[in-house]
Amino acid sequence: MSEYNRKDHLYLKAKEEGYRSRAAYKLREVQDTYTIMKSGDRVLDVGAWPGGWTQVALEFVGQRGAVTAIDLQPLEPIDDQRCQLITGDARDLGEILGTNEPCFDVVISDMSAKLTGIKEADQAAAVGCAELALYVAEQQLKSGGNFVAKVFKGGDVEGFVKSARPRFNKLVRSELKSTRNTSNEFYVIGLGFRR
Ligand SMILES: C[S@@+](CC[C@H](N)C(=O)[O-])C[C@H]1O[C@@H](n2cnc3c(N)ncnc32)[C@H](O)[C@@H]1O
Repeated sequence: MSEYNRKDHLYLKAKEEGYRSRAAYKLREVQDTYTIMKSGDRVLDVGAWPGGWTQVALEFVGQRGAVTAIDLQPLEPIDDQRCQLITGDARDLGEILGTNEPCFDVVISDMSAKLTGIKEADQAAAVGCAELALYVAEQQLKSGGNFVAKVFKGGDVEGFVKSARPRFNKLVRSELKSTRNTSNEFYVIGLGFRR
């Protein structure tokens, strides 16, 4: 991919507007279309580094809301009392938070594994990330809460979508305009978690 394409207009816009990643516009697009977050919500951002989604979530939860963000990589501090940043593995979240009592209104996951270049392994890892996001939601998402997870076409992604569908009142799959057109990612958006 050429340098010109990699630094596309959303990459440059993110730099200009102070977002940590161009991915910020993906969450904005999901929010504009499905209104997954509202003022006062507690949002759990899984696979959050470098923090573009966390920044966007903070914009939508208002002064009474809060955002907890976790990633394997340490996030640069965000100077905002409503924000809790955790370095760790999403698998251990219950242990890290000290509770599996569902207390989040929204779980958002942009998690992706490091690519190996081996197609089957990368597809399996991508589905594994989506399954982990759903597992986290099972532990931490309140009844009626909303969910977003990144997935990639291929592998057993259809199996994942099928297993997620009955867990929500409504489940949609969305290919976002803000996704690079070379990517085969899409997002699964679950509205109204059934606990
Ligand atoms: C595409 S980046 C997220 C970008 C972010 N949403 C943003 O807006 O800046 C994917 C992240 O998922 C994280 N990740 C992958 N597996 C994880 C796991 N098991 N636990 C926590 N984070 C994980 C990676 O470390 C990586 O930083």
